[in-house]
Amino acid sequence: MTARPLTITLDGEPFAGAEGQTIAGMLLAARRRSWRTTSAGAAPRGVFCGIGVCFDCLVTVNGARDVRACLRRAADGDVVETQHDPLPEVTS
Ligand code: FES
Repeated sequence: MTARPLTITLDGEPFAGAEGQTIAGMLLAARRRSWRTTSAGAAPRGVFCGIGVCFDCLVTVNGARDVRACLRRAADGDVVETQHDPLPEVTS
């Protein structure tokens, strides 16, 4: 039995995969290594633990923020967006 193909977008760019893959799995299969930046320093982040513990892989999926890409199974047509939340300005 062959898994059904599906397509998601990340910031408008299409990525192809198969039913059962996680969002992170689809992005990694396409050689995408990072899709988030840290609040401090804007360092790139993607998969670190791969098991839902570190929260490095957060994305917005269909408008829902802070979804762990390593846990979320992709659904055909998912609209995935990268996240960057800069630290708030500190005023004295
Ligand atoms: S890679 Fe660690 S929570 Fe997703």
